[in-house]
Amino acid sequence: MKLFDVYPINDINITRALGSRVWDNHGKEYMDLYGGHAVISIGHCHPHWVNRIKDQLDKIAFYSNSIKIPLQEELASTLGEVSGKKEFELFLCNSGAEANENALKLASFHTGRKKIIAFKKAFHGRTSLAVAATDNPAIIAPVNETDNISFLPFNDSDSLRAHFKSEGNQIAAVIVEGIQGVGGINVASDIFLQTIRACCDEYGAVYIADSVQCGYGRSGIFFSHDAAGVEADIYSMAKGMGNGFPIGGIIISPKIKAKHFMLGTTFGGNHLACAAALAVLEVIRDEPLMPNAAAVGNYLQQKLTSIPEISGVRGRGLMIGFDVSETHKNLKKDLLFKHSIFTGEAKPNVIRLLPSLALSMEDASLFISSLKKAIEQYQP
Ligand SMILES: Cc1ncc(COP(=O)(O)O)c(C=O)c1O
Repeated sequence: MKLFDVYPINDINITRALGSRVWDNHGKEYMDLYGGHAVISIGHCHPHWVNRIKDQLDKIAFYSNSIKIPLQEELASTLGEVSGKKEFELFLCNSGAEANENALKLASFHTGRKKIIAFKKAFHGRTSLAVAATDNPAIIAPVNETDNISFLPFNDSDSLRAHFKSEGNQIAAVIVEGIQGVGGINVASDIFLQTIRACCDEYGAVYIADSVQCGYGRSGIFFSHDAAGVEADIYSMAKGMGNGFPIGGIIISPKIKAKHFMLGTTFGGNHLACAAALAVLEVIRDEPLMPNAAAVGNYLQQKLTSIPEISGVRGRGLMIGFDVSETHKNLKKDLLFKHSIFTGEAKPNVIRLLPSLALSMEDASLFISSLKKAIEQYQP
């Protein structure tokens, strides 16, 4: 049997990983500034994470949500402590799309309404409603098309207010990334997020903070949205939550009440996933990873801004994007194949940096010198 060919892939076979480094099957070392789509939060194969998963495997890996799973309660309590959202409640699932799907569904249950506001260049995942709220017609199958989603311009408070004025009493939710990831690292302004909060309060809609990529400390604070000084009603999470172990979830404001069977899952919140997610939170709590992300991120942005061949340096913490000109459009490939550095990209010609939150200053500085060399050696 062959694999269903849905990914353009690099011909590299990674067989080992530690911290911000990965190695291929020939022993060649790479610096990883991508973390496999922003997934690696505490560093590849962090020893505490490895040991906690191994210990859990020796006890029990899975049982369904028909029984009490104390690890879920421990996870909720540690997440409340580390994120500062102690009064929120946790629902666990397996991926970012599923987290957003549940968030949107819950908002609709809560309000009894159908309409959703999403934004241009948004990416929320590939399940039915999450993909319908994603601004990329190429990945929306006919069965997922719906008139219930309106795409408004990102960071445009006036058009948001105008839209609420015309159909505010039909709107169930506004879903927004704190920093658009797939869309090219676009930071939501404080005033924009404050306007979302104000409109949702005025019209009784639910503010959903998609924190799947920008959350879990990546921006230097736990939820990047909270930099605006207002709180969302639901935060969706995945990627960094398990440091590579598949787990997602939403945390829900106490104003939204649970009812039996409104949400559900077979695998979500299983013992092994909870152990992995607890290990991640314990490391974020006990090691200064968020301040490190802020400091190393500032350093990177400052150095990148001084390189004349690149422009539009933007982001927060260790979620950084910059534009390269059309003549430098192969820079990402050169960084990978000539300088052994994984980075991410977004269309057109944006390079995205999404390393582990434990990236050291030395590695950041090594990246800057390699980037300068790659630009010097660049042959269009
Ligand atoms: C902001 C955001 N939301 C949701 C998702 C979907 O997450 P998953 O691929 O885990 O379903 C992604 C994935 O890239 C994302 O960046």
